[in-house]
Amino acid sequence: MTKRRINIGLIGYGYWGEKILRNITGHTASGIITLCDIDEDRANAVKSLYHPVNVTTNTSDIFNDPEIDAVIISTPTSTHYHLALQALHGRKHVLIEKPICTSETEVEELIALAAKNNLVLMVDHIFLYNTVVRQLKNYITDDFMGKVNYIDATRINLGIYQEDTNVLWDLACHDISIINYLITERPTQVRAIGRRNPTHGIEDVAYLFLYYNSGMLVQINSSWASPVKMRKMIIGGEKRMIIYDDIEATNKLTIYDYKQPETTDIKKSKLIDYRLGDITIPKYEISEALKNVVDEFYNCILHNKTPLANGENAMAVVKILEKAQESLKLNGAIIPLA
Ligand SMILES: NC(=O)c1ccc[n+]([C@@H]2O[C@H](COP(=O)([O-])OP(=O)(O)OC[C@H]3O[C@@H](n4cnc5c(N)ncnc54)[C@H](O)[C@@H]3O)[C@@H](O)[C@H]2O)c1
Repeated sequence: MTKRRINIGLIGYGYWGEKILRNITGHTASGIITLCDIDEDRANAVKSLYHPVNVTTNTSDIFNDPEIDAVIISTPTSTHYHLALQALHGRKHVLIEKPICTSETEVEELIALAAKNNLVLMVDHIFLYNTVVRQLKNYITDDFMGKVNYIDATRINLGIYQEDTNVLWDLACHDISIINYLITERPTQVRAIGRRNPTHGIEDVAYLFLYYNSGMLVQINSSWASPVKMRKMIIGGEKRMIIYDDIEATNKLTIYDYKQPETTDIKKSKLIDYRLGDITIPKYEISEALKNVVDEFYNCILHNKTPLANGENAMAVVKILEKAQESLKLNGAIIPLA
């Protein structure tokens, strides 16, 4: 592609679509923006806020418009696959909200079609574009952390209930993508238990366990039914432990040096001491992750590159979620991952 501005079709103007629209309207590489929402009220809501944006309630207007180069899909998860398929058939580059879709077979098809048509396929695994997570990854080395023994992730709050996916697909999806990014090893087994909300008929509280050949253990706690909002990840290594707390305004990362207790006196060594070494709070850069996502999408389109959050990356997340779903149905049975 030689032109410098990208004409965009944004599908879905709900909670997240609003944030995407804000980021693309302000972007220097954005050309004409066309927004589609099947809900006429939502579509019309855009008109009063963003005058230069074309608005439609029919997705075909986007797929059939030869002037549109790329499509961003921000609709409920169950619609992602069919919309993405049509966009790729219409020779549009595609950025899909997380989770990319609901099965490995669907992702495989999207990856193949994007490759065949030489199109960018990207998923909004937003934490891969979060500067704090990027910095965290720099610390996960044998020299600095030693072997990682465990990761304990908590992502809980009150709502927002999704209509078509449970809390694992909505929230654990983020933690899986972060962990897959931080750690190169992939889990070999999955186990999940959950509580089905009787009104909504889907799991709103769930615990996911990932097992690794190295012995590393991962626990992910996801909930839409918590009175407090927590976004915390504890990473326990042989040399250091790190807490990543995304709710903290400024000190999101805390690094704890870990030294074995020096005493051989069993009674003394049993005394709890949370200061086994120095504690460091590193400085990090802050920028809006969603802006970085849009930058990456545009950059990959303009320079024919593959995004970090590409189809394969999204596939690794979906594989785990699919097996977790199987385990949920079997009341927490351990399911092997191929
Ligand atoms: N990356 C993130 O951090 C993040 C955060 C929140 C939501 N999301 C994802 O964004 C997506 C949307 O979530 P949301 O909370 O904005 O949902 P939402 O229900 O608030 O909005 C969805 C919008 O899509 C419209 N829509 C539904 N089907 C459509 C179709 N076939 N064609 C056109 N419009 C259609 C609806 O009318 C609605 O306005 C989900 O996949 C969700 O997982 C991602």
